[in-house]
Amino acid sequence: MPERLVIAGGRRLSGLVRTSSAKNAVLPMMAAALLTPDECTLREVPRLRDVEVMGQILTCLGVDVLAEPDPLGRGLTLVIRSPNLSTHVCPEWLMGEMRSSIFLMGALLGRLGQVDVAYPGGCSIGPRPIDLHLYGLRALGARVEERHGRIQAQARRLTGCEVHLELPSVGATENIILAAVLAAGTTTIRNPAKEPEIKDLAHLLNAMGARIRGAGGDPVVIEGVEGLHGAAHTPIPDRIEAGTLLLATAVTRGEVTITNVIPKHHSALLTKLRQAGALVETGPDCVMVRMDGRPAAVDCRTQPYPGFPTDLQPPLMSMCAVADGTSVITENIYERRFNQAEELRKMGANIRIEGRSAIVKGVDRLYGARVRVHDLRAGAALVLAGLAAEGTTLVEDVFHIDRGYDGLERKLSCLGAEVRRTRG
Ligand code: EPZ
Repeated sequence: MPERLVIAGGRRLSGLVRTSSAKNAVLPMMAAALLTPDECTLREVPRLRDVEVMGQILTCLGVDVLAEPDPLGRGLTLVIRSPNLSTHVCPEWLMGEMRSSIFLMGALLGRLGQVDVAYPGGCSIGPRPIDLHLYGLRALGARVEERHGRIQAQARRLTGCEVHLELPSVGATENIILAAVLAAGTTTIRNPAKEPEIKDLAHLLNAMGARIRGAGGDPVVIEGVEGLHGAAHTPIPDRIEAGTLLLATAVTRGEVTITNVIPKHHSALLTKLRQAGALVETGPDCVMVRMDGRPAAVDCRTQPYPGFPTDLQPPLMSMCAVADGTSVITENIYERRFNQAEELRKMGANIRIEGRSAIVKGVDRLYGARVRVHDLRAGAALVLAGLAAEGTTLVEDVFHIDRGYDGLERKLSCLGAEVRRTRG
């Protein structure tokens, strides 16, 4: 039976909450573990649908994936071993469940010299091309063919080279790194993505014996090595989950401290929150936000890191929907990432879409309604709107939210929200 969240709005969030590890760091790391037959351990892995699906895909490839509860209750410990890795073709429905299955191309090409995958899936937020991924793998010497909805690639041994990405694609940068670590010679990636998850992936790979320099900056230089060994790693905190919780604090005019964060990962968001009138304080691994009155309207343009992250654009729109004034939000990364607007209008929001921009005229209050989740971050936006709304909000199709948030309603309840999950 489909699940929904039932939210009684109007409660201020307050208290302390700990962020889980980053979904978008864990997923490429699970692919990185395939680059060695040795045991790789990932600690404090969040309990997410996307992690579960990636685990099922790896199992399909003959990989041993052992998941045990973290001793401190911080998610899961994943132990991944692949002595008998195969290029067994995974069911398309599984590969198509999320975007991250594409990372398998780089890892399997690096380890086995061949790969046969279906096209990746992912949130319906616009076209999700993979041309930059394929460009990078071809530049490294792979023969890549796309036919019958699948992608086959072979390479006796990849050869290091210089690649220049016309867009700083996160996934393409990660895929090229995964393919280059066992290539012959040195690979230089120019105009790479600079997201913190790239740097964290390089930390794990270097702990496995890779030689990567400059990850998180431009260029990234990968000196190919003969082989990698196992390692253990705790991924960085999830900056998008933390940002979502900070925006939930602002939208409910609350006061919350979030722990297990790296404040410098949040500079663009903290600037916006201060512009909206919040008091923001940071410590070595925590951020405190207090919003005493109604947020002020803010303009925002999403950009690659360190700009304002596209993944926080939908939750930010919910704060703008109840702000004092008119906000202009411009989505520069994806073509159709305003799925939440139509549902927010059902709650009384005043939002007009003009091309890549949303004109959000703040209203005094939103009203509880029955709304539908269309994608992961749009779902987060609807939860935040429900927290602020007068009355009760039913958020349908919660499975989208479970792809990327580990126990969002549990964390919000700990902060005083009245939210519960029901079936049917
Ligand atoms: C990663 O997706 C994240 N997913 C996304 O998070 C995030 O929104 C995105 O990076 C941007 O930060 C994971 O890490 C699993 P991109 P990715 O390649 O790698 C275009 C979430 O909510 N592009 O940086 O797919 C693309 O169309 C998810 O957690 C090409 O044109 O993002 C988009 O417009 C959503 N050709 C832009 O680049 C390509 O070959 C950015 O995409 C690849 C991408």
